[in-house]
Order: sequence, then C-alpha cells, then structure tokens
Amino acid sequence: MSRFWSKTTKCITPYVPGEQPRDKKYIKLNTNENPYPPSTRVYDAIRDANNSSIRLYPDPDATELKSALSAYYKVGADEVFVGNGSDEVLAFCFPAFFNREDAICFLDITYSFYPVYAEFFGVDYKTVSLRSDFTVPLDDFPECTRGIFLANPNAPTGIALDVTEIEALVERLPNTLIIVDEAYVDFGARSMVEITKKHDNLLVVQTFSKSRQMAGLRVGYAIGNTGLIEGLKRIKNSFNSYTLDRIAQKAAVAALEDDQYFIRTCEKIIKTREDAAKKLMELGFKVLPSKANFLFISHDKFSGKEIFSGLKREGILVRHFPRPRIDNWLRITIGTDEEMNILIEKLKDLML
Ligand SMILES: Cc1ncc(COP(=O)(O)O)c(C=O)c1O
Repeated sequence: MSRFWSKTTKCITPYVPGEQPRDKKYIKLNTNENPYPPSTRVYDAIRDANNSSIRLYPDPDATELKSALSAYYKVGADEVFVGNGSDEVLAFCFPAFFNREDAICFLDITYSFYPVYAEFFGVDYKTVSLRSDFTVPLDDFPECTRGIFLANPNAPTGIALDVTEIEALVERLPNTLIIVDEAYVDFGARSMVEITKKHDNLLVVQTFSKSRQMAGLRVGYAIGNTGLIEGLKRIKNSFNSYTLDRIAQKAAVAALEDDQYFIRTCEKIIKTREDAAKKLMELGFKVLPSKANFLFISHDKFSGKEIFSGLKREGILVRHFPRPRIDNWLRITIGTDEEMNILIEKLKDLML
C-alpha cells in the first residue's frame, strides 16, 4: 500500500494467474499451455527477425499479420484486430463498446478475467448461472444487456456450444454485442468466425497462446464487422500504438503458415484428452465432456483441494479454484501422453 494509490488501485481485486513456480521442475498442467513446441517455422521467423531492425518500432497496424489472418479466415483485413494476447483484446472491448451505465452479462462460472475487467472499467455486470450439470442455459441471458462475454468452449468446464445455438442468441438479442471468446475452439469445437459477416453484433476473439503454442509471445486477435474493429483500433491507439512487438508479429505469421503442424498437434491433444478422460473415469472421477485442451474433474471421495495439494507435493501442478460451486473440482491441462500417464499413476497412489 502506498499513500499515492488511486481509488481504483485500492479497490480492484486483480486477476490471479495460474502459478509459474521456480522452486523445482513441475509437470505443468495448470495454465492450459500447449505441451508441444511451436512450429519450426516459428523459430526460423524469430531468428530472422532478431536483427538490427529491433531498434525500430514495430508496424503499429501489424499489416502483415492481419493480412495473413484475413487470408486464413477468408475475411477482410479490416475485419481483423490484433492485440497483446487475447486478454488485451478482451480488455479493449470494455472501453470500446460499453459505457459505465451499461450492464453486461456473463456466466457465473467462466473465465475469471471478465469480472476483473468489468470492475476495472467500471462496467456493471450480471451473471447467468450454469445449470447443475455445467451446461449453458443460453435462453437465460436477458434482453436488457448491452454485451455478453461467452467463452466457447467454456472455461474451466471445457463444455462447448454449437454455432447454431450461439447464432440463435445473436439473433434473439440484436441490440446486444455478443463477444465469443474462442481461446480453446481449435480443440474440437466449431468457430463462429465464418458467420461474423452476417451479424454486426458478433465479435469472435481468438489467441495464438493455446493451439499455436505461443503463450509466451502474447498474440491474440478479434474478427468481426469493420465498425467493431474500428472501435477496438480507436481504443488501442489511445492507449499504446505498439502492442505487438516485431518478433511476435513475424512469429504469428509463420505459425499460421504451418497449418499441417497446427492440425497435427491439435489432433494429438484431442486424442490424449480422450484417453486421459477414460482413465480418470476408471479411477472414479466425474469428467465433464471437454472440447478444450483441459479436463474438469471431481471425485466423490476426495476433495479438490486434497488432490491439488497431493499432486503438487508429487511435482504435478493442476488448477484448483476455491470458488462456490467448483470448489471440489480441478482443471487439468492436457499435456503429453507421458505427462498424463504420470498424472494417472500419481492419482492412483494418492487414492490408495
Ligand atoms: C477463456 C480464456 N480466454 C482468454 C484467455 C487469454 O489468453 P491469452 O491472453 O494468452 O491470449 C485465456 C487464458 O487462459 C482463457 O482461458
């Protein structure tokens, strides 16, 4: 605490990211990183970009990256916005689209950054409760809301909605901006990107952190109608013109070029996820049907906290959220087959 803290600094409750401990080497299954390295093309691009041009500011418009994304997703370059991780893109949505007097909505159990941003930007929010089986009651989102943040697949449950179900919401609430956070969409769900052209109240946000193995380089993006993209640009250029550095821009372009590697590693993670889910169920765990690179699990006989602590002692980090409704659950990132086998063996030992 300092006597110079503003009211905001005093009052906010910051987001708590998953641990990145340095005390020993852990099997890290706690922050939904990808267990595989980026494509070799990404390394080549980083090496090529690492030269004296670093003394120059990066392209503030990330022109090359936006044009690569627009070609990849078959949308106009003016329908793409890029930012420093999708967290930054999500944060920019608040001042870009919502006023202090507006109310927005998201699920009671979802990405925990949404309420942090809402409080930070002074935007009022309401939550819609997931059903008891953690599925999403889309019909419960009220009409009188200016915006909805919807993670699809949802986090930390991993449960995904169909494009048609979300499109029905977009059509039911034409005066509400629906922001679909597709951080995990590449692990088995379907993206809304292809229908962004049809709806001016739909914005899709994605990231290079998960399915493209680049969490450390911080690249996220949004795709939507040109007016929405222009709004995000106005906010970015009033805050920091150079949110993406030169190396990150080049690396992201290279990652998009290696589609085969992207597809292969996503398929591998899906396969590992399904194998792990089966083994966990054999150990008596409840496992929610996941379309993400993590599983959400709980056990009737052992508390979430107990398993979390036991695994940590054994050198495996998973994520436990001490929050109502999910206190007894654990979110486990999908690692390599070898890491998941070690997890299963350690769980068997703990449960003896
Ligand atoms: C649902 C969801 N959205 C967005 C993000 C942010 O990802 P990044 O800022 O790395 O793009 C995360 C990160 O864990 C997430 O779980």
